[in-house]
Formats: sequence, C-alpha cells, structure tokens
Amino acid sequence: MTTYKILLLPGDGIGPEIMEETCRVLGWYANKRALSFISDQDLVGGISYEVHGNPATDAMIAKAKAADAVLFAAVGGSKWDGLPFKNKPEQGLMRLRKDLGLFANLRPALCFEALKDASTLKPDIVSGLDLLIVRELIGGIYFGKPKEITEIPGGKRAVDTQVYTTAEVERIARSAFELARLRRKHVSSVEKSNVMMTGVLWRETVWRIHDTEFPDIELNNILSDNCAMQLVRAPKQFDVILTDNLFGDILSDEAAQLTGSIGMLPSASLGARTADGHMPGLYEPIHGSAPDIAGKGVANPIAMLLSLGMCLRYSFGRVEDAVLLEKAVDKVLNEGYRTPDIMQEGQISVSTSGMTDAIMKALDSLV
Ligand code: IPM
Ligand code: MG
Repeated sequence: MTTYKILLLPGDGIGPEIMEETCRVLGWYANKRALSFISDQDLVGGISYEVHGNPATDAMIAKAKAADAVLFAAVGGSKWDGLPFKNKPEQGLMRLRKDLGLFANLRPALCFEALKDASTLKPDIVSGLDLLIVRELIGGIYFGKPKEITEIPGGKRAVDTQVYTTAEVERIARSAFELARLRRKHVSSVEKSNVMMTGVLWRETVWRIHDTEFPDIELNNILSDNCAMQLVRAPKQFDVILTDNLFGDILSDEAAQLTGSIGMLPSASLGARTADGHMPGLYEPIHGSAPDIAGKGVANPIAMLLSLGMCLRYSFGRVEDAVLLEKAVDKVLNEGYRTPDIMQEGQISVSTSGMTDAIMKALDSLV
C-alpha cells in the first residue's frame, strides 16, 4: 500500500479552523478506507511572516516539494495590508505556485441541487450547472517582468507585464483538452485577442493544439468580457473554460457565485508529471481567509473538504473515495444542514465542526 506524504498549510483567518476539519475527514479515510498517509504541518502567509519575517520560508517550500500533495487553506488579512509587497501573505501562495510549477489550476463550479435557491441568479439558470475553469497559474500578468513602481517627474509609474510563450499556452491547452475528454468534450478558450498580443498568440496556439491533437473536442473562442457576461446570462452553455491567469482569477469568482456561495468551491493546482511519476499538487478552497468570521466556528468547511476530494482524485488516484466525499456533501445539503453562508429558511443551522460531523456521518452511511 502506498503511504502518501501530505503537507498541511492552514495559513490565516479561517484557515486553521477548516484545516482542522479536513484532518478529521482525513482520519476517517485512514480508518475506514485504508488511506495510508503521513502528514506534516507548516506556516504560510501572514502567520509565517509574523513568526519568520517571510510569508513562505525555504524550509516550507522544501517540504511542499517533497510532499505527494499539499493541502492549503487560506492566507491574508487586512492586518498585513501595510506590509511591503514582497512580504504580503499572498506572496507565500505565489511562491508555492511558482516554485512547485503548478501551471494548471482546476476550478470546478458545480451547483448542488439543494442550493439552487441560494444563488443570486434564478434557480433555472443555475440548476444542474457543472463547469470547469482551467486557469493558467504561473504565467501572465501575475509573474511577468517588469513588475514595478518607479518615480517619474510629477508622480510615479506602475507597470505589470502580461507575457505568454507558445510552450506555456500549449501545456495549459493540453490540460484543458484532456480534462474535456473526461467530461462533455467542449472547450471554450477565453482571451482578449481583439486588443492583446498575448490573446492573439493564445488563440492561434490553442487552435493548433486542437487541430493536431484533440480534433474530437469541440472548441470555441470567446472574448473575456463576453465570457463574463455569458456566465451570468447562460452559464450552462459552458463545459471547460480555458483561460489565462488574470481572466481565470476573475471568472472563477464569478462562477463561484453562480453556485450559491464561494464557501463551496474547491480547486486543484497541478504541475507536470515527472519521469518517476510524481505530479506536484496543491489543493485549496477558492474562498479567502475571511478574517471577519475567523475564530467564530461558523466558516463553511465544504470548499476545503471538496479540495481534499480533488486531492484524492488527482494526486492519489482514488476516484471512488473522491466521489464518496462529493456524495456525502450532496447528502448533507439535501438533509438541510447549512453553515451561515448558505443558510436558508427552515434548514438546520450548523457550525464548522457541526457540518463536518454531518459529513462524516453521511460518509459512514455511504460505505
Ligand atoms: C485566487 C486568489 C489569489 C489569486 C490571491 C489570494 C492572490 O484570488 O486563488 O484566486 O489572485 O490568484
Ligand atoms: Mg481569486
């Protein structure tokens, strides 16, 4: 039996609370599903800055590289707003993504039937929604150089650089097409080729990879502004949305809201598989550290738990166990369990740990 090495990075805000619940569910998998793992824990983000003066230490990065998978909760908070840019909590996450080579960010937006009324959109628009955003994660304007603010006469000049190479677009396009093959075989490639050179290269590269390697997949282009609009107009037209780092950041928050609460959505960030079979993987909820509700025991643990589900699926190849967790979440939602962010009239209000209790009970009942 394989023993997996997992690094836990609870981070800031509600991070430690939802990570604690994830550990309980990991324990359930160890006991009931013979998942063999050893876990280690480390600091990242604001808390790492407080202790080490750095949001991501070399030692933490080394542990993350050595792990089979990293579970990451959340970083950030207004108390670190004044820090120099390089010390900001978010830079801990940026370094993890970059140093581990996590170029493919998978963000599924799935509307659970029980929550179709929780969305701010009409239920028939979101009912049955199941799309996947594939976001390029270590290129584009997040990392392009120059990235700086300089002094100029009369003020300052700030520059961020959007840059993509053929190879960077090719590898993320392949990820999207491969994932589409396991789904409804449709990719919408999103860029802004009407005004951006990176968009022009993006579009032509995606088409070439499509025509030469994935002719069985249906491909269409859509400009990012139009995509933002289509997502709220008719989101069910999408299967896989393939896009760059910045557009993916924006569109995934929008997609999250379609499902009722950003507290529901997991993500996986994956790197290239090496010759020895190792594929770096980091799993994190899409929501942030929510400092306003931290420490109150009311955070929704579902996005973090579903991120563990994605880890079971993509890093450990335990698809059945991943499905089990998704079914358990579906079951407790149908039974009416709700954390405050998804509370609806007449349903059962539960705390962070109460939601996990319900999910573990559902897991018991499903095996
Ligand atoms: C995300 C987040 C991050 C990003 C922040 C925390 C830096 O919004 O994962 O979508 O912009 O990538
Ligand atoms: Mg974001």
